[in-house]
Amino acid sequence: MSSGRISKMAGLLLGCAAAAFATAVSAETALKVFVTSQGQPAIWRTLLDQYEARNPGIKVSIELGGTTSDMQAQYLNTVLTAKDSSLDVLMLDVIRPAQFAAAGWTSPVASDMSSYLRAYAEANTIDGKVVALPAFADSMFLYYRKDLLDKYGLQPPKTWDELADAARKVADGEKNPNLQGLSFQGKAIEGAVCTFLVPYWSQGKVVTKDGKLDFDREAATKSLALWKGFADSGVAKKNIAEVATDDTRKEFQAGNVVFAVNWGYAWAMSQGADSAVSGKVGVARLPAVKGGEQATCLGGWEWGVSAFSKNQEEAKKLVAYLSSPEVSKYMAINGSLLPTYANLYKDADVTKAVPWFADAQSIVETAKPRPVTPRYNEVSEAIRTTVNAVLAGATTPADGAAQIEARLKRIIR
Ligand code: GLC
Repeated sequence: MSSGRISKMAGLLLGCAAAAFATAVSAETALKVFVTSQGQPAIWRTLLDQYEARNPGIKVSIELGGTTSDMQAQYLNTVLTAKDSSLDVLMLDVIRPAQFAAAGWTSPVASDMSSYLRAYAEANTIDGKVVALPAFADSMFLYYRKDLLDKYGLQPPKTWDELADAARKVADGEKNPNLQGLSFQGKAIEGAVCTFLVPYWSQGKVVTKDGKLDFDREAATKSLALWKGFADSGVAKKNIAEVATDDTRKEFQAGNVVFAVNWGYAWAMSQGADSAVSGKVGVARLPAVKGGEQATCLGGWEWGVSAFSKNQEEAKKLVAYLSSPEVSKYMAINGSLLPTYANLYKDADVTKAVPWFADAQSIVETAKPRPVTPRYNEVSEAIRTTVNAVLAGATTPADGAAQIEARLKRIIR
């Protein structure tokens, strides 16, 4: 055999080996899941490890991008506008499925939605198609220092005025310059949209009616003035315009806050080993404006399959698992993420881990959704930048309300 033929054959064999190797590699499906950093990624990871163990050949990695919902949306907008196939599964804030479906960025995920809480069945069903499945429920709550309220003989406040009075009483008694009365989100982030809407809704007002703008400028002024008043009177700290959701969580957890407006995830962390307030925290409905009703903002996150994923079937299978009752229960117990299934709110294991979930179902079920529109990004920006400008002292509450109205008029007609 000539040396030429030998090297040709060797080359052929090598080629076969390479092909066999390639098949072995491609037998493994790698899925990449986008998870919000506010949604307990480390705990989702433990579930993904279990999923990998149960599904040989599937590898799942997590990607995080941006620390707030709006920054994450910006990141996803960039990836999906480029039709980038690198993300298979997307954890989406409850306000996004409408926009993502309209843009053609998510694949319909066939499923019967009747077992989920209604708000999430609705948020994920766009034009009759189920475009994502619920990951966890959420709403804004009032976190409070039970130990301090008890010490001063105070009940959790039912109105914002009562809250201000209670905060002052505690401040007078504690004489601790580092103790803030109230922490809420004043930074120009998605959470600030809810900051604005909570006292606005509490006055019985809506933003849209039958898809049309129905804005009440006076109620908006009152809402902005309420928050600015907290900063001006020293109930909240002066630089509240710089505070994002996780700042509130950290400051409360460090023992520097009496009352905090925050979402479900903050509970598990407040009870952790490195928390200064473990065992001292209560959670209640958010207060109302005087004479108004107690209102809160509907939050939550959903699992979508990217329309550009090259692993549609495997991604849909994973999403079905991540949205299952088993997973919802696990995340409730380990991450204090609110269940998307009604029966879990009274589940003994769940209420043992998070006792206040036993009373949380009706709060989630009566929480109000932010306006549902494919142009939600613009709605959000109009509101959150104005809330921030008012709190920073750059705009008055009355001018801020007029600006929000003018901007919303151009977006929602
Ligand atoms: C929470 C909520 C989400 C909301 C966000 C704002 O993560 O679940 O719906 O938009 O906070 O910061």
